[in-house]
Amino acid sequence: MRHLVSAVIAAAGKGERAGQNLPKQYAEAAGGPLVRHTLRAFEDSLKIYEIIVVAAAEHMDRMRGITAGFGKVKDVVEGGSDRFGSVYEGLKKTDPACGVILIHDGARPFVNESDIARVIEGVLKYGACAQGVAPAETVKILGTGDTPAQTLDRERIRLVQTPQGFMREIIMNAYGRALAQGLRATDDTTLAERAGHPVHLAEGRYENLKVTTKEDVLAADLLLRLRGSGGS
Ligand code: CTP
Ligand code: MG
Repeated sequence: MRHLVSAVIAAAGKGERAGQNLPKQYAEAAGGPLVRHTLRAFEDSLKIYEIIVVAAAEHMDRMRGITAGFGKVKDVVEGGSDRFGSVYEGLKKTDPACGVILIHDGARPFVNESDIARVIEGVLKYGACAQGVAPAETVKILGTGDTPAQTLDRERIRLVQTPQGFMREIIMNAYGRALAQGLRATDDTTLAERAGHPVHLAEGRYENLKVTTKEDVLAADLLLRLRGSGGS
């Protein structure tokens, strides 16, 4: 069966760790705000039917301006005080005709057509799918104070990225349960797992990083320039 796919782009954060004047998703990179590069990937993917963008109340006009040229953006909605609340607002606005929902961080401008296709493929096969990469560095768990108690096997660790995709009933059920139990999470696969839905983790790309620090903002500008996309 063919499913229409809705993409919820979470871009309502404050970007405090990046310490810019404006939240990082609005930082200028390669000729346009970061989030425009993110949106471009979803707009251009033939697999995406609609895009719902979540923005902070104080940046609604700015975001409406950025999304104006994107025909698939069906709605720009006001976010919540954390990512969970923002994504939930976006989910509520998705077209019920869309059987598959992808959730993506506005601050990941390197997402590409193959990421989108791979996650959708995983959703159709497993019900829930995200992408992960093995960490580049050794990962330790602290014991008391700052003395490591355990070194983890890097090969068995995955840093989980977005897009994260779900069959509509799975993600709606996961958010419904989390709300009912008063539990929130910074990541959607965690919610699905808590609700009893196993998640398939495909091999991601290291490049699909989440712009977090001010160095990431600079690196994103350079990398997007190298890629030669104006995002417009
Ligand atoms: N996000 C959101 N609504 C929030 C908080 C976060 O839509 N209330 C979004 C961000 O805009 C970002 C994604 O969730 O695209 C991942 O969050 P993160 O990288 O933590 O971004 P910020 O919360 O903006 O950054 P920081 O934690 O440094 O303040
Ligand atoms: Mg945050």
